[in-house]
Amino acid sequence: MTDAPSATTPLVALNNIQKTFGAVSALRGVSIDVLPGETFALLGDNAAGKSTLMKVLTGVYQPDHGTIRMDGKAVTFPSPAVSRSAGIEMVYQDFALADNLDVRTNIFLGREPQKNLIGPLVRVIDKKKMERETARVLERLDIPINPRLKVKRLSGGQRQAVAIGRALAFDAKLIIMDEPTANLSVAKVDKLIEVTQKLKDLGIAVIIITHRLDEAFAVADRCAVMRQGEVVGRFRMDEVTESEVAHLISQGSLDGYEAAPADIPVERRRIGSTSTHTNIEQVPTSGSGE
Ligand SMILES: Nc1ncnc2c1ncn2[C@@H]1O[C@H](COP(=O)(O)OP(=O)(O)OP(=O)(O)O)[C@@H](O)[C@H]1O
Ligand SMILES: [Mg+2]
Repeated sequence: MTDAPSATTPLVALNNIQKTFGAVSALRGVSIDVLPGETFALLGDNAAGKSTLMKVLTGVYQPDHGTIRMDGKAVTFPSPAVSRSAGIEMVYQDFALADNLDVRTNIFLGREPQKNLIGPLVRVIDKKKMERETARVLERLDIPINPRLKVKRLSGGQRQAVAIGRALAFDAKLIIMDEPTANLSVAKVDKLIEVTQKLKDLGIAVIIITHRLDEAFAVADRCAVMRQGEVVGRFRMDEVTESEVAHLISQGSLDGYEAAPADIPVERRRIGSTSTHTNIEQVPTSGSGE
């Protein structure tokens, strides 16, 4: 055996993450792992701790306790820049774009490629390269947008594509989207689902936080359900129904859950069980994070 990462080594593994803000326990020992290229939905009601967990992963917050591993190796993210350089990109809810700047400038904001003007002493921004790279990432996402257009002239869906393109341009291994469809129309949501599929085809892992279960079931391979700072269930999407997940989100457990017959997956109907969920893993309760 070697220590080389195998196909099943998680790209990212968060283990026993705890975070308090004053009297609020936002995360009480949360563990999730995301495989390379996987689309993972992080579900849960308001204040469950989803955004806080992602802020720990992106170096915005430091955990009080717990570990982060990438490709099996322990890592720390003292700042968002360090997390980014490890290949983790966050697409914010408001997309955090500069309205008055054009698409290519937004994609490279703060990380503009430079070229020598007169030898290495005088360097200027390489706009040609920015334009080329912008066209390349938008093409990879199959979204035609003129790189010279000002962002304020774009639709919600196009703005989102620019935000995702920004992540792609820097060879992200994991893209995190926090409520990406909150402000989008139905057609735009369909487009996002398509874009997420493209990211999967490109081998890029995605963590999507959403309140919309239909969307989670449309795009994700697996999910974790959080409630009051804890993970209360982890599933493969084909092992669970929307109404079970909805119950878990609101009640924190599937005890007392009664499925309507049509809601029971074929597999489970056959074995005649509606109450055994062997796929719910136990959340570690001890503070044994390394
Ligand atoms: N910077 C902060 N200071 C104090 N409390 C915070 C801070 N950030 C988050 N919290 C608290 O931590 C808890 C979890 O918040 P978080 O934003 O992670 O929830 P969420 O699952 O993302 O919710 P939503 O679905 O509403 O976005 C909440 O009780 C929230 O008030
Ligand atoms: Mg949130």
